[in-house]
Amino acid sequence: MDSSTQQSSQTQNEENNQSMQPQQVNIMQDIIAKHGSSGWDELYKMKKAVWDKGEVSPALRELIEEKKFPLPDGRGLVPGCGKGYDVFYFANKKRHMTGLDLSETVIDEAKMIQAELKFSEETTTFQAGDFFNFEISEGKFQLVYDYTFLCALPPTLRQSWGTRMSEIISPGGILIALMYPISNHTDGPPFAVSESMYDIMELLGKNFTLEHLDKNCKSFPGRQGRETMSVWKRI
Ligand SMILES: C[S@@+](CC[C@H](N)C(=O)[O-])C[C@H]1O[C@@H](n2cnc3c(N)ncnc32)[C@H](O)[C@@H]1O
Repeated sequence: MDSSTQQSSQTQNEENNQSMQPQQVNIMQDIIAKHGSSGWDELYKMKKAVWDKGEVSPALRELIEEKKFPLPDGRGLVPGCGKGYDVFYFANKKRHMTGLDLSETVIDEAKMIQAELKFSEETTTFQAGDFFNFEISEGKFQLVYDYTFLCALPPTLRQSWGTRMSEIISPGGILIALMYPISNHTDGPPFAVSESMYDIMELLGKNFTLEHLDKNCKSFPGRQGRETMSVWKRI
């Protein structure tokens, strides 16, 4: 890469990933470019999970705590769950949550946090596996939450992401997709997303109806203006 290209790519990173230092984004992108999807596990082992905010997103809290959309009970899934903050947030006696992640390292960490927080298997399960072919043991899900998962996948997998969501969510079940990062940068991860790409029959339009869209949802500092909360119902 020549220095002007490097500089412009760095500037782009700075503009599009303001909540992370450019150097951190570069490490993440280099590792994923080198190792492919197993790079996520490498990053967790290296303690370079630069995307990890250590808590549930303000937009999800807003959706639930301000009762902007009623949540179903039953079974829920967080794909690409990382350390599982969202999994614990959704789980209760009426809603069993599964946290799924490709990285065995982070699933082990999530299980340790589960033990510390005393969440039993009756409400919470963590599973290492690939979203596109993990085994679903007890039927479909009534709720799936995607945040910083779609943007972590190579864009070539997006259509399969939509197809898989259709397969694993039961009719009437919901997908909460917190869209991030709304942007037009070209490198990644995180790869840019747009509101229109989810709909217009592209990823979800055929099998889901859009029930809730909030372009002004609350955000973590540094992510403001680049997040849109959406809730989709499986037809
Ligand atoms: C950007 S991180 C976000 C993690 C978590 N949602 C968070 O905000 O801290 C993306 C996560 O997706 C996981 N991942 C990537 N591809 C996956 C796949 N095909 N199936 C399951 N998890 C995957 C990675 O291991 C990583 O934990």
